[in-house]
Amino acid sequence: MKIVVLLSVTTIFIVSCLATLAYASDPSPLQDFCVAVKDADAAVFVNGKVCKNPNMVVAEDFFFPGLNKPGNTSNPVGSRVTPVNVNQIPGLNTLGISAVRIDYAPNGLNPPHTHPRATEILVVMEGTLYVGFVTSNPADPALKNKLFTKYLYPGDVFVFPEGLIHFQFNVGKTNAVAFAGLSSQNPGVITVANAVFGSDPQINPAVLTKAFQVEKNVIDYLQAQFWTNID
Ligand SMILES: *[C@@H]1O[C@H](CO)[C@@H](O)[C@H](O)[C@H]1NC(C)=O
Repeated sequence: MKIVVLLSVTTIFIVSCLATLAYASDPSPLQDFCVAVKDADAAVFVNGKVCKNPNMVVAEDFFFPGLNKPGNTSNPVGSRVTPVNVNQIPGLNTLGISAVRIDYAPNGLNPPHTHPRATEILVVMEGTLYVGFVTSNPADPALKNKLFTKYLYPGDVFVFPEGLIHFQFNVGKTNAVAFAGLSSQNPGVITVANAVFGSDPQINPAVLTKAFQVEKNVIDYLQAQFWTNID
């Protein structure tokens, strides 16, 4: 009997440990909400943001207007991401969710990038997008990273799994518009080309010539480009 009880307790313990490890998004809140204190210079850094006194919380803390307005796509890649995360809505703090609007001029590209902390679910409202993501390195070194792609039309929904490199390309003749939900209050964005070729200070060209297996003049050319972030 004692052994059965012991085994049950052990099982419960292991299951709860696994449950703890299985978080698929930001940690669950321990209260109704934890509206972020809007202070970029806060001297205290926590995993998330410090909570505002709940008695001082107002509806505006959960509000962001104007997502009906197109973003400015006048930039080299012809797209614009308008983020709505904890930096725009302090009430999203600890809630593990956020949104974006993405505008694309004809031929506009949301270039290959990753969100280190979020899965993205994208809904196309207008236009035609060619989208895709690439898997992480396969266990078998003989295999390549796998590309998944799809053409999307208004009403279509597509998922970009957490952390994977993905892109959207407007292949139609008109502007395109999409909205997306992301499973983090602060998904983060790493635009691949910008991070690799446009960092400050620059990555030593010796590193990049070896990594990309090209001549140094190719790396010099890429590092000399003006890499703009569109989000
Ligand atoms: C859009 O961005 C471009 C380039 O930064 C700028 O010149 C232009 O004034 C902007 N347009 C609007 C409507 O804000």
